[in-house]
Amino acid sequence: MIEPETRTIEDKHYASYYARKPVTIVRGKGALLYDDRGNEYVDCTGAYGACIVGHAHPRVVKAIEDQAQNLIACHGSVYNDARARFASRLTNILPTGLDRIFLSNSGTEAVECAIKVARKFTGRRKIVAVKGGFHGKTHGALAATWDSKYRKNFEPLVPGFVHIPFDNIEAAKDTITNDTAAVLVEPIQGEGGIRVPSKSWTELLQDLAHDAGGLLVADEIQTGFGRTGKMFASEHLGMQPDILCLGKGVASGLPIGITAGASETMDSLSVGEHTSTFGGNPVVCAAGSATIDVLFDERLVDNAAKVGEYFKAAFTKLMDSHRIIREVRGLGLMLAVETRFDVRQMILDALQQRVLLLDAGRNVLRFLPPLCIQSEQVDRVVSILPKVLEKEELARLSS
Ligand SMILES: Cc1ncc(COP(=O)(O)O)c(C=O)c1O
Repeated sequence: MIEPETRTIEDKHYASYYARKPVTIVRGKGALLYDDRGNEYVDCTGAYGACIVGHAHPRVVKAIEDQAQNLIACHGSVYNDARARFASRLTNILPTGLDRIFLSNSGTEAVECAIKVARKFTGRRKIVAVKGGFHGKTHGALAATWDSKYRKNFEPLVPGFVHIPFDNIEAAKDTITNDTAAVLVEPIQGEGGIRVPSKSWTELLQDLAHDAGGLLVADEIQTGFGRTGKMFASEHLGMQPDILCLGKGVASGLPIGITAGASETMDSLSVGEHTSTFGGNPVVCAAGSATIDVLFDERLVDNAAKVGEYFKAAFTKLMDSHRIIREVRGLGLMLAVETRFDVRQMILDALQQRVLLLDAGRNVLRFLPPLCIQSEQVDRVVSILPKVLEKEELARLSS
């Protein structure tokens, strides 16, 4: 019997919740991906930001293999050496004071835990989130997520959430009051279009949250672990969060969510109030420890800052000759090129040119490559963009 193609099988059996690109990726190395026909692509998506140290990094692969030989499943109700090693490595690099962690399996779960901790610790219900923000798609996190396209068919969502306008000082002052359990904010909005707020606003959010007796929760699921050229984007913006949510690339693409805080906040939940069968899985933890080692040994945070600047400068130069580009923004290797038109076709055209791109909203091209990407690979990306942009410009002119 001839095996049907991968795409035929997935289309038949896998729920159609994703907008698919017509490519089957079977292998990766560093910042490069390969399809089932052996074609090579520069990966500017980093698996939606979940690939930080590069695809199939040999040290991460070895750590996973070694751990899998020993123990794959281990519940949090017993102690485990790989989990302890990871907890120790991780808390060494977390912002001062955040030395207690809860491990789960995704970003949205990290946010769920943060919401529960904030509510139990303060005894309050109100969570102040931000318009344009994205925090996940499970019901609690979804209540904090702004875009109605994700929310509208699932209401009523968890009550008690309010949204303030992005980077607006007056609204923050009016809304963050002494019934606030937490202010939940992405230091830089990712899904919302790579929006960097002013430092005066983020500092104010922190002051207002604390003056009100609430907590500042930073969702660094997309921005954290070096993505923006600093270990945490909060550092750019003068924030010292009380709770930090991490996920995406912390374990090099194995499923993880992390909620970190001080022991007095985290321990407000009692035994059994929040657990997860897979949370703290030893293989994931071993991958996490190896990821941290590689991040430091290969100075990838510095590389994100340096190559990010190079990337941004190249995009900014393209603006001179391409009026279709409205704005270039972002920090480190979390970059956006906002265009005047829908980017869907541009992403498909870039794929033909062997570059994998992401969107962030209708008209924004988003770049979240692995932090190991090199300037020659950036040159490859930048060299195909004029063709992609010009094709779209021509199509718009003739329509
Ligand atoms: C800032 C932020 N928070 C939360 C999430 C949800 O993470 P996950 O898809 O792992 O549930 C994402 C995912 O894109 C994110 O970017």
